[in-house]
Amino acid sequence: MFLWKRARSLEGKVAIITGASSGIGAASARAMARAGIDLLLVARRRDRLEEVAASVRALGRRTYVVVGDVSDASHVAMVLDEADRHFGKFDIVFSNAGYGMERPVHLMEDAELRAMFEVNFFSSVALLRESAIRLRKAHRPGHLLMCSSCLSKFSMPDHGAYAASKAAQEAICRAMRFELARDQIEVASVHPVTTTTEFFNSSSIRSGTKGGEVPDHAPKWLIQSPDVVASAVVSCLRRPRSEVWTSHVVRLSSALFTACPWILDLVLRHQAKRQRIRQGGGRSP
Ligand SMILES: NC(=O)c1ccc[n+]([C@@H]2O[C@H](COP(=O)([O-])OP(=O)(O)OC[C@H]3O[C@@H](n4cnc5c(N)ncnc54)[C@H](OP(=O)(O)O)[C@@H]3O)[C@@H](O)[C@H]2O)c1
Repeated sequence: MFLWKRARSLEGKVAIITGASSGIGAASARAMARAGIDLLLVARRRDRLEEVAASVRALGRRTYVVVGDVSDASHVAMVLDEADRHFGKFDIVFSNAGYGMERPVHLMEDAELRAMFEVNFFSSVALLRESAIRLRKAHRPGHLLMCSSCLSKFSMPDHGAYAASKAAQEAICRAMRFELARDQIEVASVHPVTTTTEFFNSSSIRSGTKGGEVPDHAPKWLIQSPDVVASAVVSCLRRPRSEVWTSHVVRLSSALFTACPWILDLVLRHQAKRQRIRQGGGRSP
């Protein structure tokens, strides 16, 4: 079977990116602009969004910002209406806003768990679902993506809730991909590995732990810049596929872990031990 698809032109397409004020979202905005895409950038911090918008305009593309919290009930309609108002259409939606929290599941408050799922999972589903409804109604093709994580395939100690929200994203994208195929609407999940963004800083503030730009236990060879993820996202827009991975090693390891869960158990037991030593040993409260 011939699997190599001809690259699609992206010139003149319109994309909506949530979580566009920093990290992977901001890098994706610039990468999409370089590919000829106009942009609607969404996040809560206006000043940071305006900076990203200025860098996108410098690349010659039309760009508007929408300030809002993805977990607000009115958010989806507002964002899609703004895309219609400024561009008269949208072709691509990258639901990328999300955050992490480093804490054992039994120590998380119910409200913390639900808030994380609200932002990482439910708001992504709401945006992609309404986008699909509007694209179908307008008889337009489209491309819908969610930023999941490599942790969707293997949950790690202290990241259980986050990994669960990312696995839920992957599962729903997989089903939507085939539900919407006949409408020429592509759906994909994106699975970055450790990426140098504000993610770890905001996660450590939220978790009340010591933090830095990236976790000090992450192997150096596994650390990527957001530009690497952004370029993989644009490559998926040109040649659609179900999952976007930025590390072959991690992707293959996840297949091995699925086939032999006991190997993953060994790896995670070792990691949990190192984590306990880093945190000064002892039982969690
Ligand atoms: N960095 C990594 O190693 C890594 C690995 C795998 C997956 N990911 C995923 O990649 C995505 C992007 O994260 P990042 O690494 O680029 O981190 P980041 O730099 O912290 O970016 C997170 C983005 O999400 C936005 N955001 C967070 N909560 C929001 C809310 N309630 N409403 C609207 N926007 C919100 C933030 O904007 P405002 O604060 O301005 O609202 C920011 O633009 C996330 O879904 C994350 O789970 C990251």
